[in-house]
Amino acid sequence: MSIDPLLVKSSFAAVEPHGTEVTAYFYRHLFEHHPAVRGLFAEHMDDQQDRLFAALGALVTHLEDTDTLVGILQDLGRRHAAYGALPEHFPAVGGSLLATLAHFAGDAWTPETEASWTAVYGVVTDTMGGALADAVRSAARD
Ligand code: HEM
Repeated sequence: MSIDPLLVKSSFAAVEPHGTEVTAYFYRHLFEHHPAVRGLFAEHMDDQQDRLFAALGALVTHLEDTDTLVGILQDLGRRHAAYGALPEHFPAVGGSLLATLAHFAGDAWTPETEASWTAVYGVVTDTMGGALADAVRSAARD
C-alpha cells in the first residue's frame, strides 16, 4: 500500500486546528484501550502532549524527504528506549492515532486517507521501532 502525501497532509491540516483536544483524545483512547502503557507516561502530561503533536507535524512535513524522515524516526526511536517503550507497543499507539485522526479529520477522512495513514504508520513502526529495538538490545548488552 502506498502513501499519498497530499491526502496525509490535507487530513493532518484538517485535524491541526483542534489543537490540544487532539492529543487529549489520543491519550484518553490509548489509556482506555491499553491501560498497561499508562504507567510509562508521567502523571502530568501537558508538555508531552505538545511534543507528540509537534513530532507528528514534523513527520508530515518531511514525508517526501526520506533522509530527513528516517533521521527523525531513528532519533525518536532511540530516545524512546529510555521511556520504557517497546516495539510491541507500536500497534496500540498506531490504533489510537488513527482513531484520533479519523475522529477529528471530518470529511477529509476517507478510505484512501486511512490507507495512506496506515502506510505512514507502517514506516514509523519499521524505522522508529527498528531503532528502538536496536537501542534496547544494545542497552541489554552493556
Ligand atoms: C508515532 C509514533 C510516536 C511519536 C511521534 C512519539 C513522539 C514522542 C515525543 C515527541 C515525545 C517527547 C520526548 C521526545 O521527544 O523524546 C515522546 C515521549 C514518550 N513517548 Fe512517544 N511517540 C511515538 C510512539 C510511542 C510509542 C509506541 C510508545 C510506547 C508506549 C511511546 C511512549 C512514550 C513515552 C513513555 C514518552 C515519555 C513520556 C513522559 O515523559 O511522560 N511513544 N513521544
